[in-house]
Amino acid sequence: MENTIQITVIDRENVEHVLDAPTDMGLNLMELCKSYELPVKGTCGGMALCASCHVYVLTDQDLPEPSEDEHNMLDSAFFVQANSRLGCQIKLHQELDGMVVKLAEESE
Ligand code: FES
Repeated sequence: MENTIQITVIDRENVEHVLDAPTDMGLNLMELCKSYELPVKGTCGGMALCASCHVYVLTDQDLPEPSEDEHNMLDSAFFVQANSRLGCQIKLHQELDGMVVKLAEESE
């Protein structure tokens, strides 16, 4: 479908969810997960202030470098790996079709 991509989210029980993601609604990955009722809190509403949307990016996507805010938040988050990102900072767009992410453990 035009303006729709597929993103696979692996939850904390290792269950894969293949999500249809609209690219024309200005959504980010945290909001997408919440709309599918996956266990992503998004406590700060996408301000890069809580890390409750922490994911590991498992595919080789060309993502923009993390902003300073995202960097700072990941610096203080738990279970951070080289492929850690904040879901709320990943805007959904066409090039992300096929991306696979895994939800990080909750640190709260
Ligand atoms: Fe709080 Fe992403 S929702 S950092």
